[in-house]
Amino acid sequence: MLFKSKKTSLKDLVLPRHIAIIMDGNGRWAKKRALPRSAGHSAGSKNFKDIARYCNKIGLEYLTVYAFSTENWKRPKEEVDNIMNILRDYLKDAKNFKDENIKVKFIGNIEALPDDIVFLIRDAEENSKEATGLNLNIALNYGGRDEILFAFKSLAKKVQKGEMNIEDITEQTISNSLYTAGQPDPDFIIRPSGEYRLSNYLIWQSAYAEFWFSDILWPDFTSKHLDKAIEDYNKRNRRFGGV
Ligand code: FPP
Repeated sequence: MLFKSKKTSLKDLVLPRHIAIIMDGNGRWAKKRALPRSAGHSAGSKNFKDIARYCNKIGLEYLTVYAFSTENWKRPKEEVDNIMNILRDYLKDAKNFKDENIKVKFIGNIEALPDDIVFLIRDAEENSKEATGLNLNIALNYGGRDEILFAFKSLAKKVQKGEMNIEDITEQTISNSLYTAGQPDPDFIIRPSGEYRLSNYLIWQSAYAEFWFSDILWPDFTSKHLDKAIEDYNKRNRRFGGV
């Protein structure tokens, strides 16, 4: 463990309730090794499983990972197909969720995905619904603006049907209409790979999140890096607009 030689250990630290990760840098990781981009995504997927298991082990309540954005469809078809196939393999391996006590939920425009993936997703969610460990959100065909648009439309429909008044639309009712309804907002957002942007990720929910950036490419991001990020999080002074 990272803190072996130091006084600090994870147990002396406050864990964020909710960590969100942008799993970036798979392509560059592959390029550095003269491998196809698909090898980067396979390595990224393996790392995702390791990090999710680690988060479960340390008792994290919520982890949200960005697997595929509404903008990622612009990539070459071969790459999109490759990511979807990685996802299929992961979903078919249902014990990923059941035996590990991880409760999985997919956030994003899921119904627009291929039928077999939608079926596997609903099956995986159903199979893990009683799990009491980590709540794992996988953002797939996800866009923050798309999510907010979806929430506004569902609220507008309720107003149109006379089920609610415009005055009843509050920050809370908007939060309750997002894919992450009922979950705490992310406290801590991690983006490896040297990019310093949010890329349409959890844009409503991240209003008061702390950010952690690093040059490490996602397949190389280990539990030790996560420990270091959590240590840094503990040095932040979160004021939520107060003093
Ligand atoms: C960003 O790296 C990565 C993606 C858009 C895909 C992430 C997908 C996975 C890690 C697989 C997910 C699998 C499961 C089972 C959830 P990039 O391709 O943009 O890298 P680059 O910026 O170096 O090109």
